[in-house]
Amino acid sequence: MGNLSVWRHEVDPTSYPQLTGDVQADVAVIGGGITGITAAYLLAKAGKSVVVLEARKIAEGSTGYSTGNLYATIGGDGMHSIASKFSEEKLREVVESRAAAVNLIEELVQTNQIDCDFKRVPWSLFNVEGQNESYIEDEREAAEKAGLTVLSNVPYHISVNDGFTVPNQAQFNPLKYTVSLASKIDQANCRIYENTRVTEVEEGPVCRVQTTGGTVSATHVIMATHTPKGLYAVHANMGPYREYAVGAILNGKYPEAGIYWEMQTSEHYSLRTYDSPEGRIVMVLGEMHKVGQKEENLECFERLEAFLRKRFDVASIVYKWSAQQYKPSDVIPYIGISTGDSKTYIATGFSADGLTYGTLAAMIISDHILGIPNKWSKTYEASRITPLASAPKFIKENANVAFELVKDYLTTNEESLQDVKTYEGKVMEIEGSKCAVHRDGNNQLHVVSAVCPHMGCLVHWNTAEQSWDCPCHGSRFDKNGEVLEGPAINPLHRVDLSK
Ligand code: FES
Repeated sequence: MGNLSVWRHEVDPTSYPQLTGDVQADVAVIGGGITGITAAYLLAKAGKSVVVLEARKIAEGSTGYSTGNLYATIGGDGMHSIASKFSEEKLREVVESRAAAVNLIEELVQTNQIDCDFKRVPWSLFNVEGQNESYIEDEREAAEKAGLTVLSNVPYHISVNDGFTVPNQAQFNPLKYTVSLASKIDQANCRIYENTRVTEVEEGPVCRVQTTGGTVSATHVIMATHTPKGLYAVHANMGPYREYAVGAILNGKYPEAGIYWEMQTSEHYSLRTYDSPEGRIVMVLGEMHKVGQKEENLECFERLEAFLRKRFDVASIVYKWSAQQYKPSDVIPYIGISTGDSKTYIATGFSADGLTYGTLAAMIISDHILGIPNKWSKTYEASRITPLASAPKFIKENANVAFELVKDYLTTNEESLQDVKTYEGKVMEIEGSKCAVHRDGNNQLHVVSAVCPHMGCLVHWNTAEQSWDCPCHGSRFDKNGEVLEGPAINPLHRVDLSK
């Protein structure tokens, strides 16, 4: 990863061992973020033997790059889109289940005395300059239909044009929480391995999960990797997006503790305060775009910084980072068995609401494995087909994937290696092959294949994160081609120019 989040500056990396050799368990959990660690906690507590396989460090992926906001509402297309695409009953189920997930986090914090700055705060949606009034109205109406308490005041530091507040939502430090929860898992029933990358999952009466260090044999596999690794039909039902965050120290007064969603023209910016190692900060998150489709993305940070300077008396900018999300085409995440008779559970399509949905996914999947009925499992069924609710986004996302695939192969780049400036990346043809070329700060060239090993799209350079990003399903790779995130299992092939 490139820029570290405020949470990553504060929490020391964990030091679990690497897997070596072959082990057995009831459940293999792939991914050590909030979804995987919560599922491992619940299953181990219920007596199942569990192995957690994390490719890097606990919560080092998406969990450690979120804003740490927890709420029963949803972002993106909003609560009203669930009511219009499905029904008011479905909306109530989604909101009720999300509230239950926030309650579980609070319960686990209290039971295990987890020091993660958890606190209940209000959540507000509003505009200051009249943007997107109809969206706010639709959301207010949907919040009331969903049974949430809706207040008309917004406790922002300046007066707002239109908006409302839902009290009793929450905030925490997601990295502290997940790392600490991992340490509280019943060790007699759970083994955690870090720096252990999964290379293949073979399904059978007993599933075999191959890793870089050994093999896990398990009855069930939970793919808690934000988006499932490998080839899954669900990839065609989601779009990968990136968002940016900027944290600033202020000269003046800070807003009250709360989750503030200030509408812009086509999205909302999410604001909150936090007492960071640098002092109290206000952080803003926004400027969403599709992965790999905005190479000059430093301007996303610039726009967020300009917004903070417009709204507050900024003393200094102290943190900048970005994060990834996957948006489902019918707005509701995919949680559960991946297809009819599979032994693999998936949990994906959380949009920007992943901490709450990740916890909910752990609740639903662990109940299923334990044979406990879960009243929300049908709502989130991973193998569901919702042609009417999905069609517009499904068509748009897949047309975009097809366009990116064809466009990049037809484009020829006449530039040579000398044209790649320091900290730049360019895709160019070398001896008939599409290559991704990056020049680092020591004037060293790094050349890898530009062909994404997931399904063959060509990667694009990400200036802000100094990574190669795939525009099709969101796989990301470091300058040497190693997988950072996304559905790709294998790295980009190294290219040896000396041959
Ligand atoms: Fe699917 Fe690259 S992530 S082709």
